[in-house]
Amino acid sequence: MLKKTFFPAIAVALLAAVSCEKPSLTFDIDLSKEGAPIQETMYGIFFEDINFAADGGLYAELVKNRSFEFPDDALQGWKAFGKVEVRNDGPFERNPHYVRLSDPMHPHKWTGLDNEGFFGIGVKEGEQYRFTVWARVPSGKESELRVELANTASMGENHFLCQENLKVSGKDWKKYELTLTPDATIEKSVLRIFLVGNRETVDLEHVSLFPKDTWMGHENGMRKDLAQALADLHPGIFRFPGGCIVEGTDLDTRYNWKNSVGPVENRPINENRWEYTFPHRFYPDYFQSYGLGFFEFFQLSEEIGAEPLPILSCGLACQFQNENVEAHAHVSELAPFIQDALDLIEFANGPVTSKWGKVRSDMGHPEPFNLKFIGIGNEQWDSLYPEHLAPFIDAIRKAYPEIKIVGSSGPDSEGKQFDYLWPEMKRLGADLVDEHFYRPYEWFLAQGARYDNYDREGPKVFAGEYACHATGKKWNHYYASLLEAAFMTSIERNADIVHMATYAPLFAHVEGWQWRPDLIWYDNLRSFRTVSWHVQQLYGQYRGSSTLTLTMDGKNVTGAEGQEGLFSSAVRDGNKVYVKVVNTSEEAKSIALSFGSASVKGVSSVKLSSDKLYEDNSLDAPENIVPVEETFSGSGSSVNVKVEPLSFRIYVFEII
Ligand code: AHR
Repeated sequence: MLKKTFFPAIAVALLAAVSCEKPSLTFDIDLSKEGAPIQETMYGIFFEDINFAADGGLYAELVKNRSFEFPDDALQGWKAFGKVEVRNDGPFERNPHYVRLSDPMHPHKWTGLDNEGFFGIGVKEGEQYRFTVWARVPSGKESELRVELANTASMGENHFLCQENLKVSGKDWKKYELTLTPDATIEKSVLRIFLVGNRETVDLEHVSLFPKDTWMGHENGMRKDLAQALADLHPGIFRFPGGCIVEGTDLDTRYNWKNSVGPVENRPINENRWEYTFPHRFYPDYFQSYGLGFFEFFQLSEEIGAEPLPILSCGLACQFQNENVEAHAHVSELAPFIQDALDLIEFANGPVTSKWGKVRSDMGHPEPFNLKFIGIGNEQWDSLYPEHLAPFIDAIRKAYPEIKIVGSSGPDSEGKQFDYLWPEMKRLGADLVDEHFYRPYEWFLAQGARYDNYDREGPKVFAGEYACHATGKKWNHYYASLLEAAFMTSIERNADIVHMATYAPLFAHVEGWQWRPDLIWYDNLRSFRTVSWHVQQLYGQYRGSSTLTLTMDGKNVTGAEGQEGLFSSAVRDGNKVYVKVVNTSEEAKSIALSFGSASVKGVSSVKLSSDKLYEDNSLDAPENIVPVEETFSGSGSSVNVKVEPLSFRIYVFEII
């Protein structure tokens, strides 16, 4: 388990305000009894391939449509010149297309291809890139290619940033590899392949380009800065592969995990449902290569120290997009869907001698991934959902009684479907219920006590998708993140019932987004962590191991009327106490943190505050708004603090 300590971007040894003013407010923190344990899974990550989060994002492949399989146009993403023919009897059964390059039959003409990548191909000066291609020479002779990274917008003498030649020989398909090292940093280069030498006809398939320096050095790897941004969150749970993408626009385009494992060359592409969901942000070339598939998700979970939480289709296509019941599998047709779920558990945990355990082992991971949770269905509703979920629960319980099952309360944070589905999930015996809320400021301000009165006898809560959205135009900004921090005090206080929480969506390419706000943004070379990312990070870092009761005038501090816009919670971590206070008001608040008969010593404090309420970080200013760590003294049974207006504070104490 990787548990590196991440320090906020600016850690300044300032002295945090220990207030000399006589505070008008007192928070009573009871150290005499420890509350509920806080699950290690509490704060985590929700991954979905929306906003070019996988291909063009976390997945470090730089070539778009590398297998010539995009359905509308096999050469989408490519510019072919000279004599290029697309053929479909290639070596990979599920990706049969490939290209044949032949002599253009004139010494001053050229045959070849450019690939545009995802919004261009970002490359860095001096870094090494692994180019691979499957190739053969139909005549059995030898042929030659020149492979370049090129800046076609260059005013210079040459377009190319680097070039290497590759000899291909023989009638059999073989994998070839060379290294490209560009001499400049370019955000939007192209990969260019020329047929050179004797110009002997050559066939090419699965043309791929990866930086060699990927996360953990995996060949089929992840972009390092983006994976690091996940690891630095200290996530306890990693939910994948979504979201609506689990369901598909129709059942044919649902996420099919079995297509996402095994050799990458033979993973068929899938239409991405976010390709056309919003015609006002339309991406006709958005497909899932499945290069980032279930093996890679499990491996990444392991490497960042998070429990994997796969979510699978329950046989219902997206209900927003399919009002017709015919679009869904009938309950009597669920057997293959249920088998997918059982096989996935075998893929993750089964012995290498089992069918799916062997697939995992052949991919390089003979040890089990130790899967503990599985989700069935995403945002489903009406009686269709419980009817579909029930046979999954029966089958999973029978075969794998130790696996915890996550059901859904639909797309709304309250209301008819929510009120119907929660009791249904309890009736069916789901272990956790996934709740979603993308809601405006007022909603977040009113939810400080959301979980205080939840049924303690039912399933646990997985706050599986949430983010504070402004009304109307939605974007990342400080004020929204502050309200997320306020809401999270409610999650923390109720850790006996809330076992997981994940902000959503996670990633967005600045040129390829369909949905915002998002947690991490990037272009082809740079990335930045939003203020919401920092809020999540702080909760992950200061998670604690058990809750403590914190009250003001005998009541939980939930932003309720008369509580002056304050939200607060406290946890214990061994000998340490973390007190989180969010001040959503425009005035500073002087508060006495009172520990009754116990005594504490202030150690440090983290402050997240800004007067740029409607701004966030950006590619050009990635540290515009970041938490500041301060030393913090003050000891005794009561410590006075002053919490700045519109700010989030964490106070760290040692019990003495
Ligand atoms: O996070 C974006 C989308 O929001 C998810 O795919 C879906 O579950 C929700 O409606």
